[in-house]
Amino acid sequence: MPQMPLRRIIVGNWKMHGLRRDLAEATDVARGMAENVVSTEVVICPPATLLPAMSLLLADSGVLTGGQTCDAGQSAHTGAISAAMLADAGAHYVLLGHSERRRQDNETSAVVAAKAAEAARAKLHPIVCVGETRAQRDSGRTLAILREQLVSSCPAELQKHAFDIAYEPTWAIGAGVTPSTSEIQAAHCALRDVLTARFPDSAVRILYGGSVDRSNAKALLDVAGVDGLLVGRASRCAADFLPLLLGLDSDAPPGPRNRTTRVN
Ligand code: PGA
Repeated sequence: MPQMPLRRIIVGNWKMHGLRRDLAEATDVARGMAENVVSTEVVICPPATLLPAMSLLLADSGVLTGGQTCDAGQSAHTGAISAAMLADAGAHYVLLGHSERRRQDNETSAVVAAKAAEAARAKLHPIVCVGETRAQRDSGRTLAILREQLVSSCPAELQKHAFDIAYEPTWAIGAGVTPSTSEIQAAHCALRDVLTARFPDSAVRILYGGSVDRSNAKALLDVAGVDGLLVGRASRCAADFLPLLLGLDSDAPPGPRNRTTRVN
């Protein structure tokens, strides 16, 4: 059955950055989008402390918010934040299995899968991150690692839910380097094959992430098989993120403004 083309998505990951005064960066992005043509879906994932305020400020702006992780399991877990709490705070999306969490918090693919199932139950849209290390790439194991991470991080429960995948080679994150076009294409193609076999009815987007900025975003989004971008450092300031977003439509014919709603 022919699939509808997927709407491309750009996700900003603020990581452990952002105080209340930085909410203005998000509203400035929304304001700039309201005044220009932005054809992609745009999501900002602030730290959990800013999520309720940012979600309120961006309501009806066309920019959605997401969490950076969530916790699965029992309620007696001091400091944990459940998927239902993120949804209650206004999030639509949640990043899961980011390599920093896999590495620094010992998050295994089984844990990521449990979180993804919990997120789906809370009606959040999970973005499950996968990616190889430099050593794994150098030893020629990239595609096998990606297939394995994808299968073991995405539970069967996702079959009936909207979700996306982010391919983020760990060696490209924050490093100022990206894989070559053919390396990205090969990775996305391998991931797509697994998704098609495992989730044949789902319209899953595959995002690329790792050192995306305004200078390379359009070229990366144009790589065959890339349906979106996950942006870290370059998403934290409107002065960086807005030009990146507007640059994606630089060849687009003039059209109506995508949003007319002003944000506070
Ligand atoms: P970066 O981070 O864009 O700063 O490389 C991406 C990410 O970690 O999601």
